[in-house]
Amino acid sequence: MRNFNENTITDAVLDRVGGAELPRAKQISEALIRHLHAFVREIRPTQREWEQGIEFLTRTGHMCNDKRQEFILLSDTLGVSMLVDAINHGSQSGVTDTTVLGPFFVQAAPQRELGDDISGNMEGEPMLVTGSVATCDGKPIADATIDVWHSDDDGYYDVQQLDKIGDLAMRARFRADAQGRFRFWSIKPAAYPIPHDGPVGEMLEAQGRHPWRPAHVHFMISAPGFEQLVTHVFVAGDKYLDSDVVFGVKDTLIREFVREPPGKAPDGNTLDRPYYHLHYDFGLKQTVAATEV
Ligand code: BEZ
Ligand code: FE
Repeated sequence: MRNFNENTITDAVLDRVGGAELPRAKQISEALIRHLHAFVREIRPTQREWEQGIEFLTRTGHMCNDKRQEFILLSDTLGVSMLVDAINHGSQSGVTDTTVLGPFFVQAAPQRELGDDISGNMEGEPMLVTGSVATCDGKPIADATIDVWHSDDDGYYDVQQLDKIGDLAMRARFRADAQGRFRFWSIKPAAYPIPHDGPVGEMLEAQGRHPWRPAHVHFMISAPGFEQLVTHVFVAGDKYLDSDVVFGVKDTLIREFVREPPGKAPDGNTLDRPYYHLHYDFGLKQTVAATEV
C-alpha cells in the first residue's frame, strides 16, 4: 500500500497494527492511532508546531533523573493520573478515598516508633497526627504499615533540600498498634508549587494556570489481605483546595488541622506553645482474594 493521504492514512496504520499478537497490545495500539490521528486532525498543526511538540516531549524526557520525574508531573497536571486513579479505585463505603502518589515518596523511609517526632528539627508549628486503620466495617487492622511524608512550612520536601538539611525529615514508616491506632509529631505542612522550572511549568504558564497544591500530609497504608491505600489528608480552609494543579482533592480527604493551646496534648506530651492536631481514621479495602476466602 502506498500514496496515503489525509483521508486514507489512519485506516492504513490501523490495518498495519491490527496484526498484533496480544489482544491487549492490539486494543491499545488501535486506540492510540485513532485518538492521536483525531488529535492531529483537530489541531491541524503546522510543520513547525509539530516539531515544537516533539521538542517539548524530548525536553520532558531530558528533565527526568533519579530525583525528578517530569513525565509523572505531566500526567498529573493533565489530570491523567487522577483519571487512572478514578478508573482503578471507585469509592466504597467505609474505604478511604485515594489520590495521587506524587514524586516525593521514598521507598526506604526511616522506621519510627509511635509517638515519635519526625520533623527532623525542621522549623515550623508543631503538629500532632493521630488516627487509626480499620476494615470497611470498622474492625481495627493491627500492625498495618503506615508511610507518611509531607512538606515543611515553606512547602519543600526533604528530598528537595537534602544538600541543605543533610538527611530525610518529615517522613517515616510506622506500624499501627494492636487496635490499628497510630500517632506521631511533626510540623504543619504548607501549600506548595509543584516543580515548575521545566517543560511542565512552561505548559502551565501557556495554559494560564498556577502550579500550586493545597497543603497536605501523604499516607500510604498497607496490610496483608488489603489493597494498598495511597492518599493524602488536606488542610481545611487552604486557598488552593478548589484549584489543585493535579486535581487531587476530594471532600472526604479534607480535615480541620485544629489549633490547640499550649498544655497537655492527647498523647500525654506537654507543649509550651500552640500546636495543630490532625485526626483521621482510615478504612482499607479487602483484596479480592481475601474476600473470596
Ligand atoms: C505531591 O503531592 O507531592 C505531588 C503530587 C503530584 C505532583 C507533584 C507533587
Ligand atoms: Fe505532596
